[in-house]
Formats: sequence, structure tokens, C-alpha cells
Amino acid sequence: MCGIVGASGPGNQVPQLVKALSRLEYRGYDSCGIALQATGRIRSVRTLRRVTDLEQRLTTLGLESTTCIAHTRWATHGAPSEINAHPIMSGDAIAVVHNGIIENYQTLRIALSSRGYTFHSETDTEVIAHLIHSEYTGDLLVAVRRAVKQLHGAYAIAVLCANEPERLVAARSGSPLVVGIGAEHNYLASDCWALHHLTDRFIYLDDGDVALITPERIQIIDADGRDAQRPLFRVKAHDSAVDLGPHQHFMQKEIFEQPKAVRDTLAAIDTISPSLFGAGVDARKLLSEVDNVLLLGCGTSYYAGLTAKYWLESIAGISAQVEIASEYRYRETVTNRRTLVVAISQSGETADTIGALDHAKELGEPPATMAICNVATSSIMRATTLAYLTRAGIEMGVASTKAFTTQLVALLLLTLTLARLRGRLTAAQTGEWLDRLRRLPTDIESALALETQIMGWAVDFADLEHALFLGRGMHFPIALEGALKLKEVTYIHAEGYAAGELKHGPLALVSGAMPVVTIAPDDQLFQKLVSNMAEVHARGGRLYVLTDSSSAFDTAKDGRLIRMRDGAGMLSPILRVIPLQLLAYHVGCLRGTDVDKPRNLAKSVTVE
Ligand code: AGP
Repeated sequence: MCGIVGASGPGNQVPQLVKALSRLEYRGYDSCGIALQATGRIRSVRTLRRVTDLEQRLTTLGLESTTCIAHTRWATHGAPSEINAHPIMSGDAIAVVHNGIIENYQTLRIALSSRGYTFHSETDTEVIAHLIHSEYTGDLLVAVRRAVKQLHGAYAIAVLCANEPERLVAARSGSPLVVGIGAEHNYLASDCWALHHLTDRFIYLDDGDVALITPERIQIIDADGRDAQRPLFRVKAHDSAVDLGPHQHFMQKEIFEQPKAVRDTLAAIDTISPSLFGAGVDARKLLSEVDNVLLLGCGTSYYAGLTAKYWLESIAGISAQVEIASEYRYRETVTNRRTLVVAISQSGETADTIGALDHAKELGEPPATMAICNVATSSIMRATTLAYLTRAGIEMGVASTKAFTTQLVALLLLTLTLARLRGRLTAAQTGEWLDRLRRLPTDIESALALETQIMGWAVDFADLEHALFLGRGMHFPIALEGALKLKEVTYIHAEGYAAGELKHGPLALVSGAMPVVTIAPDDQLFQKLVSNMAEVHARGGRLYVLTDSSSAFDTAKDGRLIRMRDGAGMLSPILRVIPLQLLAYHVGCLRGTDVDKPRNLAKSVTVE
């Protein structure tokens, strides 16, 4: 999704800023641009192409500057086009880059038009630029503060003013922004990852903050107009994440990193205890007080929550609801004040999940909120009392893979912790669970070894336009995730269903042209699933079955089989999803899609 970077300091900052912008490319974008202070005026360069194109244009134009802002845009208001690309200018005086959505932009646009402002783009951002211009009386910081008070919606902005050559002003509400502190320079970004080649010292702006950034100082003014001090964080870079190694794409690399990601997520755990979820807070007391769990997330993170519901109810004996964050935040719900609210998010910046978490807090003052997240410094991690940091390492591919499996591991640890607190597990049983979890990375390696067989399936899928994924019980969410992965990276229309639902509608779709991927472990639902598969077979559907090594299947009748190791038990969803990730990846490669940056999608979805 949109990315912001900015820099102010001696020397030409353009090359560093372009590099910073390129570090945000993995998030997905459709255009990019830069605005820079150049001898008393602002120059702006925009392109509908990649950051490398922007770089070439800047070199050709020979543009240099000590103070600049740049942006990658993921279109919301207005089509992807050069005119809608940021920076957006108000005349020659003000340049703005913006992440987020201004909900009252139509009203503001009408008001500004009546005051003589002309709009050139279709963006909501243009109202911000004109609003700041209209409030400007000689101090950019003051003008931005006045302007943002009139905005409704979510935003992170960076602003330049032609009259104030070394000053860069930033503001945020609902979209992340971080200030990077250098030796002689100061920087700005929507994600500290962008600035890791420049600094490891960061200040996170709070909602409502407006900041003035010059080479010498950072001044932050909070929502109430007071000078604010925000803590300084040191955040280490993990630059190995940007090397593909022997892999062709980040998605493939990240699928194959799952044994390590799970091992790292489990590292340093020698026992199951509430302290896993919070050092400085009384996690035991908070978790002992809950009798219900509400899991919030979007997309793949929502499916992690759906899987955890099966674990929480059967292992910990605690009721659990899973809500799509964007739905929950606007729904009237019945509040249970003994609910643990768990926000699941890889990025920790998903606007819908942050909104849902805020909504849950407003509704019922739950005794505990918890983040399950892969980014230690993210907004969601800072907004909850309890947290579990998954240690998947940065995920560059838009399609979530290792983040999902590590979320599942974290959710299983939460389940075991609640089960222990509720007297559902003895110390010996807990030890057995830990042993099984420690074997998980090796089991994932076995699942990864199925890649060649999956590539055989992928050839069959490459020319298709539809697919069904079926599962039952805790594999139903894995069917949903398998379908989502296929949709995302191959653009094949895919649907996941609880296999028992087949006869209630989707069976009408089944014909000789419909591949049906079935997750069929030899568990208590196996015979039921075999019946569901027979329904598909009888209608000529093409079955692709992921089953166990010992389950009784007739390949001639039951379609193409891939057998996985027996005995995964409750850990089975974590293993079964891996062949489905590989399937999506290889079908995407065969169809020639951009598997790491699928069209229209963004990695970090910071707008509603
Ligand atoms: C996963 O492959 C997707 N790209 C997407 O569904 C993602 O899981 C969702 O946007 C939630 O993101 P988050 O985990 O960063 O909150």
C-alpha cells in the first residue's frame, strides 16, 4: 500500500530517499513520485512506472536537494495515473504526500473550490494540499496543524513548503509514521524498514501528532497542541530478508523459511506460561479472568483466528468468536466483559484490525487485549496489554505464508496457556505438547519436500479459471486459506468450503472442468469427507486430495493423491497449508503472474 519517505540534511538526499522508497516497493504500488526543494522552489517528478524509472528521470534531470519527500501510491481515490500520483501540489508552494483516506474530502473540495482553488487530480489528497495552502500565513507547522483539524478519516502526511527550504512537516492519525534520527540528518517514513540503510534510531509518532523535521531538530506537537516527547527506539535491520538466495521469488523463499520461522517463534520457550504474553504486566491475572476469546483479523490473519477457534474450544474449553475486523468494527455486538480480545496481524498496521481493536476497547473494557503480530514496533503491538511476537522475519511477498504458520503457532501457545490455567492440561501433558511443537519444524520440512508432487498438480491448474477447496473441522479454515492463496497469486477464481456444505449449493459448480482440492487427513471426520468426495466424483469433478500416508484411497477412483505423514493431530492445519501455498506459488509461476506483487494488492493495508 502507499508508502511515505522524507529526508532533511546536508548534501544531496535524493539518492538515499530513492533507495528508501525502493525498500517500500514490496508493499505494492501503482505509481510513485518525489518532491524536492530546489533553490527556492519545489520540483516534483512523478511516474506511473517503477521506482527505478523515477530514479532514471531524476538522474536525467540532474535534480539534487537537501530536503525532499517521496511516495509510492496504491490508488484509492482516482485511477492510477501520473496526474493522481503523489506528491500533490497546491500551486508551486505546497507539496503533500499522503497515506490513508480523507472521508470528508468532497465537502472540503466544494468549500475550497468556492474559494478559488482549482483541482487537477481526482485524489482526496489534493484537498489536503489546498487546505494547508489556505491556512498558510508564514509557518508551515502552524498551517498543517490548522489543516489537519479539518480532516476526517485516516492519514499520514509529509509536507514541503517552497518558502521553508529545510523544513519538512509530518502529521498522522490512523496511519503509521516514524521519524528516523540520523547523525546530521533526520528522516521520515511510513515504515522504519524504509530507513534501515540510514539509521537504527526511530521515534514513532502518535495519533494526532504533528512534527517539524529539520536537520537539527525534531519538534512534536500532540493532538492537544502541547509539545510532546516520544520515546526513542533502536530497531535492528534484518537485511538478509531482501536477498532471494537460491529462490526465484520472495514467496518461494518465505514458504521455505517456515521451519526456521517456526523454530524462531518457539525459541526460548521452555514452558507454557502466561508470561509468554507479557513481561511487565500481570499476564497470569489477566488471562485467569477471561472466560471468552474474541479473535479479530483480516484475510489470512482472520483464517488463523478461525483455526484457533477449533483449538481454543476443544483444547482449552473456552468459547471463542472470530470476527472479520472490518465487519466487527461496525456491528452491534453483545459485550462480554470477561473477554480476551486478540488482534491478529502480520504487519500490525492493518487499519481495519486497529479499528476493530479500538471498537472492542470502547465497547466493553475487556480485561485483556492481546496482539499476535510479526512487527515488534507496530501500532497493534503498542495498543494491547499483552502480546506475542511471531518471529517469522520480514515477509516481502504480498501473499502471507510464513506469517500465517507462525501466527498459528502463537495461537496454539495461547490455547495451551489458557488450557493450563483452566486446569485442562497437566504438567506432563503440557510437556508432551511442547515436544510436539518442537518437532514441528522438521515436520514442515517433510511437507516442503512434497514440492515436486505439487508441481505436478500445478501443471493441471495452470490453464483453469476456477477451483474449489474443501476441508472439514479445523481444516475448513485451511481450505479457505488455500483458496485465498490461489486467488491472490494466480488470479484463478477459487472458493473454500466446509465440505459438508458442498451439497447445499456449490455442488452445482462441479463438472469435469472443476478441480476440487480436498484436505483429507485420516481423522474423525475422514469418512464424512470421503462421502463428500464421492459426491464430487459422481459428477465428474477432478479431485486433488491431500491425505495421510495410511489412509485408504483408491487413486483411480479418488483422483490425484498426495500423502503426508500420519499423526499430526491438532498440528495438522499448520502442515496441510504448506502444499497449498506451494500449489498457489507454482501455478502463479506457470501463469506468469507477479507472484510477489499480485495486481491490485498491497502488503500492508493501512486504509479502510
Ligand atoms: C494474505 O495473503 C493477504 N495478503 C491478506 O489477506 C492479509 O493477510 C491481510 O491483509 C491482513 O494483513 P495483516 O496480517 O498484516 O493484518
